[in-house]
Amino acid sequence: MTGAVRFGLVGYGLFGAHHAHAIQATPGAQLVAIAARSEASRISAATAHPQTTVHADYRELLDRRDIDAVSIVVPNALHYEVAAAALASGKHVLLEKPMALSVAHCQELIGLAADHGRLLAIGHELRLSSLWGSVKRLIDEGAIGLPRFVLVELSRFPYRQGSGGWRYDLAQVGSWILEEPIHFFDLARWYLAGSGEPVSIFARANSRLAGQHSLADNFAATVDFHGGAFAVIVQTLAAFDHHQTAKIAGEKGTIWAAWSGVDARTDRPTFSLRYGLAADVHEVPLAKPAGELLELADEIAAFVRSIQAGTPLPCTGTDGLWSTHLCLAAQESIERGAIVELAPG
Ligand SMILES: NC(=O)c1ccc[n+]([C@@H]2O[C@H](COP(=O)([O-])OP(=O)(O)OC[C@H]3O[C@@H](n4cnc5c(N)ncnc54)[C@H](OP(=O)(O)O)[C@@H]3O)[C@@H](O)[C@H]2O)c1
Repeated sequence: MTGAVRFGLVGYGLFGAHHAHAIQATPGAQLVAIAARSEASRISAATAHPQTTVHADYRELLDRRDIDAVSIVVPNALHYEVAAAALASGKHVLLEKPMALSVAHCQELIGLAADHGRLLAIGHELRLSSLWGSVKRLIDEGAIGLPRFVLVELSRFPYRQGSGGWRYDLAQVGSWILEEPIHFFDLARWYLAGSGEPVSIFARANSRLAGQHSLADNFAATVDFHGGAFAVIVQTLAAFDHHQTAKIAGEKGTIWAAWSGVDARTDRPTFSLRYGLAADVHEVPLAKPAGELLELADEIAAFVRSIQAGTPLPCTGTDGLWSTHLCLAAQESIERGAIVELAPG
């Protein structure tokens, strides 16, 4: 298409406000309308973005003919409903993770996008990161040979409640695995793409205070891939600040990436990227800093390029289906105390 991509935004909470800012700052994108649920959110949206129309019902926004693409940033349980309606109304969709709360709903969204000839992008913005994306580039350049093992680990402070406490409500959040570990499943599958798709998963979880597994602070999963490669995903929410590391061990050495900040959106992070084997160590300078808001800006810019010029999406519906599938299978493994075999996506 020619001309600016006209955006509607559904959801104006903490991350929705960042989407709005990123859309407005992206060359070739124009923020036309915002749908927000409460009056307080509508006032915030209208005050920060006076050039937009603010709707109380997202369906009004989807009915508009002057919107090409919709960014969806609402609680997890609403992702399927809003994305399905947006695709059916003929809009391109950038959908925050998790894509949906069931694999069947992910499949339906992929089908709707195909039926309506629209793009469906999933918000795994770490793929756009100068740090986590450089890990992928090093792998693709053969810096460590074929990767055999991936470890992604996050230690951070407990989750925020979210608007109305949705993040602590099992029915609305799905599970806490679908919050941050879902990004790490996506990274692991991306980094181990040379080994094919995941085949099975085993997961454990417990909580800092109580014995409940559904909203668990401490989480670990082992994912097996074809040919013996495997990934370990670890998260604790019983910590402080935000510290993420990834270690990818291959035939010729290990890549080691680390990022720390007071939170994921700080503009003062520390980060490093090194790779090597034994005493042969290489420090990799990054073209720009890494952090969630920089990655979100690049994600929106990539989505706009895909709509305007047909460039590949950084993260597709199939990728979103796989990361969701891995989270749901991890939850099943925790509940059954058993290895769960993964059906192909
Ligand atoms: N990719 C990432 O790294 C990343 C980071 C953060 C969040 N997320 C995802 O983004 C989503 C939102 O998270 P958040 O942290 O922004 O949560 P939040 O601060 O609680 O915001 C959620 C927003 O959704 C709004 N909402 C609920 N129902 C709605 C409806 N029917 N129509 C319009 N708006 C509605 C709420 O409205 P009111 O305020 O009016 O109640 C609230 O403003 C979640 O899926 C989360 O997993 C992704």
